Amino acid sequence: MRKFAKKCAVAASLLTFTATLSLAQAPVAGPAGKPSRKAPTGGGLLAQAGKADKHIVDAEAADRGKKAYIQECITCHGPTARGGQGGSDLVRSLVVLHDRYGSEIGPFLKKGHRTEGSPAAQFSQDKIEDLADFLHLKVNDTMRTSPLFRAQNVLIGDAKAGQAYFNGDGKCSQCHSSTGNLKGVGGKYEAIDLQQRFLFPKPAFGRGGKPTVVTVTPVTGAAVTGNLVQIDDFNVSLRDAEGEYRAWSRIPGLKVKIDDPYAAHGELLDRISDKNMHDVTAYLETLK
Ligand code: HEC
Ligand code: HEC
Repeated sequence: MRKFAKKCAVAASLLTFTATLSLAQAPVAGPAGKPSRKAPTGGGLLAQAGKADKHIVDAEAADRGKKAYIQECITCHGPTARGGQGGSDLVRSLVVLHDRYGSEIGPFLKKGHRTEGSPAAQFSQDKIEDLADFLHLKVNDTMRTSPLFRAQNVLIGDAKAGQAYFNGDGKCSQCHSSTGNLKGVGGKYEAIDLQQRFLFPKPAFGRGGKPTVVTVTPVTGAAVTGNLVQIDDFNVSLRDAEGEYRAWSRIPGLKVKIDDPYAAHGELLDRISDKNMHDVTAYLETLK
């Protein structure tokens, strides 16, 4: 348990865009060491939490948040909140990472974000805080399983083993080569950033990166391919090569094929071992 807490502390300081995150001012903890939601003075945790505070997850709230998430969000943002089903990756979302007890997620949802159930604009503050707890839990889960977060010394791997993994089990060479698109990558980034780049290459939503391509085949007529605009259980829309917006109802017989260029990297996080990861980082570092 202590080890885990330490990992999290390291994690918080390693997320590059949250360099301002520090554990210096931990939120007020309740008697059992759990964070208390309400301050003795009456203001909620949000009222006390500064930008530098880490969001401390309340397990019960996260549990309620999970139910709300399943009702309202899961169809698009997926079971691990990592996106890929039409919604973006919430674990890498700056809205979520900068959030403290609903401070960012609340205003974001209240602008009228699409949901599966009740209108987001009418969510209660409690429901927003519960959802925030659930999403922070998902971020923590990723940290716990991601070797990235034990990376004070990232260059401890074996470059040769990393190269073998790159061309073998890692299947990296399906999309990359040391003399092609990853040429010089070791000189381009510091080792720790290099590791982060290969574990999380997908930019936060709206920050560039490669579009998700979707091909829709209507019941009658030719298939249309373009950049995914939106997809849910009922509709799918794209922008085709001419920049034209096209939308369909997802009636039976309509085929939708999604090609997320970052999908391989998402899956990688679920299967890469610590050793592989250190070895790959060591190998990439040699590509100068
Ligand atoms: C119908 C699909 C859909 C549903 C349902 C949905 N979202 Fe989203 N969400 C998206 C899409 C698409 C984006 C990216 C575009 C945007 O910002 O609107 C997004 C973006 C977000 C972002 C911002 C990510 C970022 O950093 O830009 C947050 C936070 C978010 N959603 C939370 C939620 C929560 C919480 C719920 C449930 C209460 C929810 N969403 C339900 C599709 C959905
Ligand atoms: C199915 C294709 C695919 C596979 C397999 C794949 N990647 Fe990637 N990789 C991508 C895409 C797409 C990007 C993003 C490129 C962009 O945004 O321009 C990327 C980005 C990267 C980057 C960041 C490059 C930069 O300059 O920022 C690194 C490093 C990387 N991948 C390493 C790996 C390693 C190591 C593996 C194997 C363990 C791997 N990739 C497997 C498609 C793939």
